[in-house]
Amino acid sequence: MAGPPDMTLLRRMLEALPEPAILLDGNGRIAIANDAACDRLGVWVLGKSYVSALRQPDLLGPVEDALSTGQAGRARFTHSSGAVESLFDVHVTPLEDRPRGMVMLVFRDLSEARAGESMRRDFVANVSHELKTPLTAVMGFIETLQGSARDDPGAQQRFLALMEQETARMNRLVSDLLSLSRLEGQARRRPTDEIDLSRLVAEVIEMLRPGADEVTFAFDGPDAAPAPGDRDQLIQVMSNLIENAVKYGADAGTVRVAIAPVAREPVLKGPAWRITVADDGPGIPPEHIPRLTERFYRVDTGRSRQQGGTGLGLAIVKHIVNRHRGRLRIDSREGRGTTVEVVLPALPPGPS
Ligand SMILES: Nc1ncnc2c1ncn2[C@@H]1O[C@H](COP(=O)(O)OP(=O)(O)OP(=O)(O)O)[C@@H](O)[C@H]1O
Ligand SMILES: [Mg+2]
Repeated sequence: MAGPPDMTLLRRMLEALPEPAILLDGNGRIAIANDAACDRLGVWVLGKSYVSALRQPDLLGPVEDALSTGQAGRARFTHSSGAVESLFDVHVTPLEDRPRGMVMLVFRDLSEARAGESMRRDFVANVSHELKTPLTAVMGFIETLQGSARDDPGAQQRFLALMEQETARMNRLVSDLLSLSRLEGQARRRPTDEIDLSRLVAEVIEMLRPGADEVTFAFDGPDAAPAPGDRDQLIQVMSNLIENAVKYGADAGTVRVAIAPVAREPVLKGPAWRITVADDGPGIPPEHIPRLTERFYRVDTGRSRQQGGTGLGLAIVKHIVNRHRGRLRIDSREGRGTTVEVVLPALPPGPS
């Protein structure tokens, strides 16, 4: 570097980095610490020696090498703040072609990447487990059909029916997973078709009624509730919510669906429709509510599986509602039932 370094420019360059970055002068003293370094790594005393400021032996070696020989290096750095420990990959780069020149340290947070990795690992483990259960059952039935049930037509019918049930479950799981990955790809594209929510909800109720003989359905909504949307996806939302109310609501209970206009929804900053699906079932203990939209999360795994559920329904609902720029809220009192509320932007001019 010719001439004395322009410290103002260097400071601006460090501030332009989103990652924590520190500049050491040729004596190994802290010359600049950017905002990210102060926010994420705590207080940096300018003029303090790197040895007392950084302290971790893993990092001191590469910094000493960079200062004395002008050689670049890398090291791991752990930072604890309260109960949270973050791991950083630190790039140590000499800025001048001479020993005892300035050295820059850039800290890349590995904890975030690791969190993503562990989420992916959990997801793959969950999917494998969910597929393996029905697959193992089907393999067992095949074995029985080839063995003990070989000459028993009655047993054959029974096992074939069970196999049909299990393969249907695998089929649903795969379609749900495909839906989710398609939705992730569409997250930024807002749907534009004009949908009448009142009609759509009435259709979904008619579709589900035959499978829920003992349940009483009540629907209260305006003659028309126009909203921009994706018809198939909104059908998926309403059928999962109403199906959940039927499955997890009271036996022979009542499922109430309502649509009401909201003149100005504060978060959506405009006119909206509030759709509620309420049941009079046992409700959901409060500690589960924040987790219901996680993939594969079920309150009562046995009961959900027995009903053919995949635990992906509400995860899909949440994605679809987000894509519509809407809001989802689940409100439940133990013993008093559950109300799920979906608020969707209305089509202008909308309700007044
Ligand atoms: N209305 C409700 N009352 C009580 N519990 C509910 C209600 N809706 C959902 N749950 C609980 O939330 C869990 C997650 O629901 P979700 O719709 O995501 O999955 P699922 O219904 O089990 O499977 P799928 O929707 O794929 O059929 C359910 O397993 C159930 O335990
Ligand atoms: Mg469901």
